[in-house]
Amino acid sequence: MSTSTPQDSWQNPWHDAWLPDAAFRPLGSRRVLVALGPDAGPVADTVVAEVRRATRLFGGSFTVSTPQERADGEHDLTLELGDAPQVGPDGFVLGRRDGRAYVRAGTAAGLLHGLHALVRRGEDAWGADDDEVVDVPASSLRMLDHWDNVDVHPVMGQVERGYAGGSLWFEAGRVREDLTRVAAYARLLGSVGINAVSLNNVNVHRTEARLLTDGLPDVARLADVFRPHGVRTYLSVSFAAPMTLGGLPTSDPLDADVQRWWAEAADRVWAAVPDFGGFVVKADSEGQPGPFAYGRDHADGANLLARAVAPHGGTVFWRAFVYNHTQDWRDRSTDRARAAYDHFQPLDGRFDDNVVVQVKHGPLDFQTREAVSPVIGAMPRTRVAVELQVTQEYTGHQKHVCYLGPWWSEILRFPLTQNATRTVGQIVTGLPGPADADDPDGPEAAPRRAGGVVAVSNVGDDAFWTGHPLAQANLYAFARLAWDPESDPVALLDEWIGLTFPGADPHVAATLHRLMDGSWRTYEAYTAPLGVGFMVTPGSHYGPSVDGYEYSPWGTYHFADRDGIGVDRTRATGTGYTGQYEAPWRDVYEDVATCPDELLLFFHHVPWEHRLQSGTTVVQHVYDSRADAVDEVERMVAAWADLAGLVDDALHARVTERLAEQLRSATEWRDQVRTYVFRKSGVPDASGRRIY
Ligand code: GCU
Repeated sequence: MSTSTPQDSWQNPWHDAWLPDAAFRPLGSRRVLVALGPDAGPVADTVVAEVRRATRLFGGSFTVSTPQERADGEHDLTLELGDAPQVGPDGFVLGRRDGRAYVRAGTAAGLLHGLHALVRRGEDAWGADDDEVVDVPASSLRMLDHWDNVDVHPVMGQVERGYAGGSLWFEAGRVREDLTRVAAYARLLGSVGINAVSLNNVNVHRTEARLLTDGLPDVARLADVFRPHGVRTYLSVSFAAPMTLGGLPTSDPLDADVQRWWAEAADRVWAAVPDFGGFVVKADSEGQPGPFAYGRDHADGANLLARAVAPHGGTVFWRAFVYNHTQDWRDRSTDRARAAYDHFQPLDGRFDDNVVVQVKHGPLDFQTREAVSPVIGAMPRTRVAVELQVTQEYTGHQKHVCYLGPWWSEILRFPLTQNATRTVGQIVTGLPGPADADDPDGPEAAPRRAGGVVAVSNVGDDAFWTGHPLAQANLYAFARLAWDPESDPVALLDEWIGLTFPGADPHVAATLHRLMDGSWRTYEAYTAPLGVGFMVTPGSHYGPSVDGYEYSPWGTYHFADRDGIGVDRTRATGTGYTGQYEAPWRDVYEDVATCPDELLLFFHHVPWEHRLQSGTTVVQHVYDSRADAVDEVERMVAAWADLAGLVDDALHARVTERLAEQLRSATEWRDQVRTYVFRKSGVPDASGRRIY
């Protein structure tokens, strides 16, 4: 058994995540030259601070010079800020020549990213001469949205859908005095290339709204903490702010006083934070105010704010998560999945250049499995960002191991448009695709669509940042996929393991890999089957409640009866949702014979004994996969137990406790879903395993 207490091995009362000192050993034991221009700025100061820290810890040395000065002595590594037009504002060049390593970038942010790329390579960065690597992020916007409430919300708590304690920056109605931990968080984000953070919940409650007015000095304090790590600050704002904060009688986007109010609000924000990023808006969605109240549409609403922030170079992230949440469950003609497309696609071409329409990756709501939202590909004259969910609202509340990298990779690599050649990742980053010449909107359409990659954060003030220590891997993988949507999520998992557990016994790395690699599919296999979604406890969204939402107003139904299950979204007989896709997907999904098994019940209502492409029937698939998945969770529990003494004690204890809950919860899912399906269908489980 290891005898040290965990805090002995961490630098702070919180876990070091993927930046433990030991990960800096290869860098810190070298002779490093940092060559900067004069007044290189706060991010350059961070580069210097990182090098200083690492070399002090591990006995190396470092010199800071300007490129004009001749630096004396021999160096193993040069970090150089200079002319590097080929890498843009964030990228870098990394290489080795004559036995020495170098990082070159045109900006301090690029240099910081290059430094951390070198750290990620570990000792490999210091071997023989190597080909130069030019690393430029695919997306210029890599953003985390925090759903943090300034006040503790009576139902949702301090962080809406947060499973890792309170907010890192808000506490009891205000911004914390001590922002040391926020700085540590900003350092983590900067190290993996996140460059934008929205500070508060998209559901803007009254106290949050005031961040726009008397809260601005606090916003400025937070921006000061994020800035040295290359991260710009954004706020979620309420569309009704001209009324609630400004005392105006209306928030009508076409009203001149409302327009003036927003312009003055923007002036105040940028006066307080000159490099402020912009606003995130949830409007006409789940009770949030919006332009519909005035008979206006979402382009009118978004452009109102866009014009207010444009003089400052600001951007408006306008969410497309708009649907009727007070639907009558008896109404079979309304399909929540259709809503975002129906509202937004007709507006293509009407949004100002500094509006980004932020689209959830699926048409429903961050389910464990959904089709990719057709909206992402349907607005060629609009900048579109994809929104992922790192916080595990529907994937186990950071109590279950659920490594989401493979899921996000599937989404980002999904070839949504141009006859299945252009991926979601290419659309939202503007990267050229193979068929751009044939783009109906011309080869120049791609960059116009680039809005970025955004996700809802999963951190809180928990000692491990994310409640479940292994959920840190999701934050890490999101950032790395936002940088390069083509990255291999399995390689990213190993990268995270290597950094977070440096120098660990190879058995540790192998076990972590085994536990996490397939964990999303395991989670999928014991929860709602074949893309049907939900079946969760209403409100909390944790644990099974098969009919929990079936007779609710939320538009999330599975329609199980004695004959079958699933939602008919076909053009032929259903809601017509398949018609929102381009070819070939509109036909692939329309036909029950070609629809992928994992999405079958999302697109079709089928008999219980319908035969899947896998060869088994729907009902037998539900029986087998749920039971097999719980067996797998039992193996995960045993594998983790085997690591006692080989990893930090506190971390081991936390994961052990969470795995016990995962096993309990997965067992509950298994037994409820299997029993439900048996009682509805009357079809016995051919494997003979127990049903209640
Ligand atoms: C989900 C989630 C809400 C959240 C909403 C959103 O519905 O349950 O808590 O506010 O998504 O993304 O706006």
